[in-house]
Amino acid sequence: MNDTLWTNEIAKKIKSKMEKVAVRSRGILPYTTENGRFDDWTEKNICWWTNGFWGGMMWQLYHATGLSFYKEIAIENEEKLDKNLMIFQGIDHDNGFKWLPTAVAHYRTDKNETSKNRGLLAAEFLAGRFNPAGSYIRAWNDSGDGNTAGWAIIDCMMNLPLLYWASKEINDPRFAHIARAHADTATEYFVREDGSVNHIVEFNPQTGEFVKTYGGQGYAKGSTWSRGQSWALYGFTLSYLHTKEERYLETAKKVADYYVSHIPENGLIPVDFCQPADCTLEDSTSAAIAACGLLELEKLCDNTLKETYHTAAMKLLHALAEHRFNTDENIDFMIDKCTGAFHDEKHEFSIIYGDYYFMEAIFKLTGEELFIW
Ligand code: GLY
Repeated sequence: MNDTLWTNEIAKKIKSKMEKVAVRSRGILPYTTENGRFDDWTEKNICWWTNGFWGGMMWQLYHATGLSFYKEIAIENEEKLDKNLMIFQGIDHDNGFKWLPTAVAHYRTDKNETSKNRGLLAAEFLAGRFNPAGSYIRAWNDSGDGNTAGWAIIDCMMNLPLLYWASKEINDPRFAHIARAHADTATEYFVREDGSVNHIVEFNPQTGEFVKTYGGQGYAKGSTWSRGQSWALYGFTLSYLHTKEERYLETAKKVADYYVSHIPENGLIPVDFCQPADCTLEDSTSAAIAACGLLELEKLCDNTLKETYHTAAMKLLHALAEHRFNTDENIDFMIDKCTGAFHDEKHEFSIIYGDYYFMEAIFKLTGEELFIW
């Protein structure tokens, strides 16, 4: 079967399954599933960083099918997040993940002014986390790890598009300056010589000096957490798309080359590219995010490189679709074997952004995607 027929068939399965899942899941805000049914983070933690992906799925499905209930559910998700905008401690660098797939996607769809306001507030909060000493956006707020004012993480590359969007929207370059400054810091301190990336880098928040790196959600200090590699791959590609600065494209390629050269024969991605050889832990989210990044990156490349990135993206998607895609319409999740962090107790379960990015990648291929980043 050729690529087009195959992707159309997978898109059809996604749409058929999600129509049932979305209708029976109205009113909830899922992160994972228990016994095949979505859980609900509305009351559990409205500030959780993944709380925009359900809305994002609904906007993608609305865009692809025109069915109005998807839009209604997406708006429910967006409105619930207003509570988060009032909780200072619950706002961190993940504002892009929360408000780009919800409020900003809504605004992109029908120019809703209330949604634009939400997106701009979220961008303003994100910009407020920039530390000029060190030139980085602070990642998390303090919790169990002591003072984390100096911590920046690679995931933040995916939050920068909220800043690029805000600058364009209100014709004020402040936000984009901050995004570029952070992207430049990430290039210097996160991306290693071989194209692999660190998850966490600590700076001295007073002087801006580099302090150290941490293994974070990966296997160990100095290892390569595969989802972090995917965030970098897609994130630098997006920074290029928004700024047209050649240096971000070069970094995206360097990071992508590392990823592509580490895809195992079976196309299923380990939690960490440096995990011990006898460890079989997987993270399907990394594969889905990387596929999205590679499909965008290939559009910016010529000939051999274009083909390399396309082939790699298709390999990842085929592996997910054939081995990790649950098409049973009575089960709420689509993608299985997702992992939050290498050292978590629980591994290989369903996580909402695994479903989101798998859908986004397939809709990129069928031309049904609403571009939200
Ligand atoms: N952004 C957090 C994660 O990827 O787990």
